[in-house]
Formats: sequence, C-alpha cells, structure tokens
Amino acid sequence: MTHPRVQQVAEIAAAAGVDGVALIPGAHLRYITGIDFHLMERLLVIIFRPGADPVAVVPSLEADRLRATDIPFHIFGWTDTDGYAGALTAAAAELALDGKRLGVETLAMRLLEANALRGAIPGLDLVPADDALAGLRLHKSADEIAHLRAAIAISEAALQAVLDAVRPGMTEQQIAGLLVMEQLQRGGGAVPFEPIALTGLRAALPHGTPTDRAIRPGEPLLLDFGTTVGGYASDITRTFSFGPPSDRFKDVYAAVQAANAAGRAAARPGLSAQEVDRAARREIEAAGFGDYFTHRTGHGLGLQAHESPNIVEGNTQILEPGMVFTIEPGIYLPGEIGVRIEDDVVITADGCESLTTFTRELVQVGGG
Ligand code: GLY
Ligand code: MN
Ligand code: MN
Repeated sequence: MTHPRVQQVAEIAAAAGVDGVALIPGAHLRYITGIDFHLMERLLVIIFRPGADPVAVVPSLEADRLRATDIPFHIFGWTDTDGYAGALTAAAAELALDGKRLGVETLAMRLLEANALRGAIPGLDLVPADDALAGLRLHKSADEIAHLRAAIAISEAALQAVLDAVRPGMTEQQIAGLLVMEQLQRGGGAVPFEPIALTGLRAALPHGTPTDRAIRPGEPLLLDFGTTVGGYASDITRTFSFGPPSDRFKDVYAAVQAANAAGRAAARPGLSAQEVDRAARREIEAAGFGDYFTHRTGHGLGLQAHESPNIVEGNTQILEPGMVFTIEPGIYLPGEIGVRIEDDVVITADGCESLTTFTRELVQVGGG
C-alpha cells in the first residue's frame, strides 16, 4: 500500500504536469517523512514519482533514519570520503528521468542540488512547483492544529512571565533572551525565528533586530516571537506601553486593534485571502495611517513560520476550513512609534477561531 503522504505528492506531481518532485531538507520533507533533516552542505535530495517508490540520495550517516520510516525508499547513500557523484549517477540510472520534468521548490532548492541533478540526468528540466506543493500542507489536520495550540499556549504563558519581569533599564536583547528562555522552560522547541523585541522608536521597524537599547518609561514595547511543538510554529505579536502611553500611541494602537478585529471578523470559508487583507487595511486607512501599514496582513503558519496562504492583495485563493494563518496588521511611523497585533487563526466551518487568546487591549507594563 502506498504511504498516504507519498501518494499525496504523487497526485500533486501529476496535477502539476511534472514527472516527479525533488525535495531537499525542509518542511515538505519533514511533513512527508516525519524526519527533521538538517539542511547543510551535504547533498540530500529525495525524488518522488507517481507510481514508483521514492529515490533518496543521502549522506550515509542519515540512511538509518530513512530506513526507520514506513516509506519504502530506494536509498543511494554516499560517504564524506567518496562524495555524492557515484550515488547520484546510480540513482539517475534507476530514475530514468532523461529529458523529463521535475518539480522543485524555488524557495528552497539550491544551485548545489539543481546543478547536481542536471549534471546527472541528461535533458532534465527543473520547473517551479511551489504553489502545487503548498497544497500538501495547506489544510491542517486536527493533530496539526493541536500542535499549533500547544506551541501558542507556551508562547502566551512565556509572554506573561516576561511582562511580569520587565523593568526599566532592561535591554531589547535581554527581553528577547528572556522570551526564549521562558518558552524553553515550558517545553517549547527550537524557535522558528529569532524573537523581535523592540523599544521606543525602534518599534517602527517591522522586522527590527533587538539591540542593547534599554527600555524607558512612556515607550512602546513590541514583542514578536514564537516557539515550536513537534515542529509546528507559533507566531504572536503584542505591543505594550512601558509606563503610561501618550495620546498619539493610544490613537495608533486603537487603529491597529480595530484592523486586527476586522481581519478576524472577516476571515471565513468562501472568502478570498485578499478580502481579509482588505478588511484589516480599511480600518487603518480610515484612521489616516494607510501609508504606514507597509506589509501584508498575514501569512500561513504550520511547519514553517511563513507558508501559504498569504493574506495579501492579489491573492484570490479561497479560504477553506483547516487553513491556518496570521492576522497581523501594524502601523509604523518612522522614528516615532510602531504597533503590531498578531494573532494566529484557523478557518472553521463558518468563520475563524483565533488560536491566540492573549489580550489585545493596550496593557501598561513595567516602569509604573
Ligand atoms: N511580519 C509581517 C510579514 O512578514 O509579513
Ligand atoms: Mn510574528
Ligand atoms: Mn507573522
């Protein structure tokens, strides 16, 4: 019997009009095999073709992990001493893909693997299959949603612990480090991205990197962070006021809060992704800050912190139950203030459920 997830890849390949799919270490391979291979300098590529067992060209040191799965891989192992050329040539003979088309993830495949495959298989055409492959992981199962809920629960408990600990003089780096530690102590796995902890006018940098700047009373504190459970990522942003907020801060915050609420209220099955973006953006435009919401409203979430569906103007993809994504409007006034409120939601039978439940009210923390 064909392994269900291998069968899914075969169906995707057939639907995309390619003769197979070549994957390297990453979320798709983890989803299919259950193995979290490290992406490194050693060549590891697995080729899936409809109606055939997958062919794996892998460092020999990884072969036992593949043998431990219930997928009948044809394994072509290579050692550090010998290099991969011989294994790849032998695999190519079995694959019989000369002059054929292999789908690849353009966001993942490197020149290393692309050149090696083209060198070993005469006339091979590597074609982008990102959108088709995204379909593999687009609808989350109950088990996947349970992992996401667990990751989010850890992040939200860690957030409360950090807020209780923040004091004047703490630096962005110290606050970011504390977020990581509090999540690890609660059972969180590797962080899906380095936490963003920004104070004062630095909160206006949507993806700023924490520095040794110390927080001062009257400033925004923007925290954007996550953890993983079983590989599934949380991704949450809240913006706080360290001490009493200015009227300007309150106005900006209220506009982002309204946009976040409008995005969550809009998201439901049958609506397109871009309609959710429009619903959130409308609120910010109405408040006069339209030019300062400088990114999409959200992105899919799962084994990757950024995956499909993108919640962005131009994405006409229809939302369906089981899709999980963020709703994270923000306003960034350069050199002045930044506010973002980010929730992780799942599309349900008749709307959406926010998996993140941390308060979205403007909370005053720390410096009194
Ligand atoms: N944090 C917003 C984005 O990356 O789309
Ligand atoms: Mn985030
Ligand atoms: Mn995000």
